[in-house]
Amino acid sequence: MRALLCTRLDGPEQLEIVERPDPVPGPGQALVRIRLAALNFFDTLIVAGRYQVKPPLPFSPGGEGVGVVEALGEGAAGVAIGDRVIVHAGHGCCAELIAIDTAKLTPVPEAVPDAQAAGLTITYGTSLHALANRARIQPGEWLAVLGASGGVGLAAVELGRLMGARVIACASSEEKLAVARAHGAEATLVYDPATLKDELRRISGGGVDVVYDAVGGDYAEPALRALAWRGRYLVIGFAAGGIPRLPLNLMLLKELDVQGVHWGAFLDREPEAHRADQRRLLAWVAEGKLTAQVHGTYPLDEFPEAFGLLTRRAAVGKVLLRP
Ligand SMILES: NC(=O)c1ccc[n+]([C@@H]2O[C@H](COP(=O)([O-])OP(=O)(O)OC[C@H]3O[C@@H](n4cnc5c(N)ncnc54)[C@H](OP(=O)(O)O)[C@@H]3O)[C@@H](O)[C@H]2O)c1
Repeated sequence: MRALLCTRLDGPEQLEIVERPDPVPGPGQALVRIRLAALNFFDTLIVAGRYQVKPPLPFSPGGEGVGVVEALGEGAAGVAIGDRVIVHAGHGCCAELIAIDTAKLTPVPEAVPDAQAAGLTITYGTSLHALANRARIQPGEWLAVLGASGGVGLAAVELGRLMGARVIACASSEEKLAVARAHGAEATLVYDPATLKDELRRISGGGVDVVYDAVGGDYAEPALRALAWRGRYLVIGFAAGGIPRLPLNLMLLKELDVQGVHWGAFLDREPEAHRADQRRLLAWVAEGKLTAQVHGTYPLDEFPEAFGLLTRRAAVGKVLLRP
């Protein structure tokens, strides 16, 4: 099979396309032919050795994707040969084939096209877990989303709106904000750390109830300061690079909650709750309530462009690779 391979931790530019032996499914595993792999920001980190998960070399990146079950290992249950499935692998989807535990596969309803299924799990899974399970967002509450046109950010905009929140999308350009508006943002803001706090307070008429922060860096503290009484601050990620340090007196003054979100750990610790979230998401996509915006689909050979979209801050929605 053809696979995109990381042989040294020197970043996306050093990845190579190579011929590898076809994997063989072990006990409890399925062999899946990948139709589309979806990239996430963490794929740019994992191939540079800068992500918390460090697979042994060589490995193929691609945390998730969609494909068809081609063979089953001994005792494999839950899927059948021919099933179209979402693959949540962590890594390994940028290859024609993957052998993977069936617990990491979710059958896809017919009404959900490949391009929507491929990149649904991580972004929408994270944002649903954050908004529903952690912040317990309520209809009518103000939700500020930082990085609102990126993978997890755009999912948070759509899901926030679907749950009845009033969404303020924050991103670096009007072009990106137009996408967020089309996905349900009520208000938009080209963000600047110097004005972010005052602008969020002005738009929400006093303070926002929930901040969804996938960006970190210099945006974090002004966003925290824009929260209303008993507001919740969701720590999602640090795409801007810097890990913020926040003054605890701010939490005391307004009884704020800072809520960590570690979706990967959540699905290991609470697999049933994760599966319920997945079913909820797939039903919403099938009903046309979520769009799972795709930035573009690229053949595997164009991996430099696909990874470059994420590192250059240029992706609007999901970047997909076709092995
Ligand atoms: N906690 C969890 O369980 C969990 C799960 C999934 C992802 N994450 C994390 O969430 C973050 C976003 O992931 P994603 O896949 O949605 O990424 P993405 O699609 O690349 O979006 C990231 C957004 O961050 C903004 N950004 C600001 N400064 C940036 C910079 N220097 N470089 C790149 N982007 C920058 C960009 O928006 P603007 O240009 O508009 O600022 C971009 O749209 C990552 O840190 C990822 O590790 C966490």
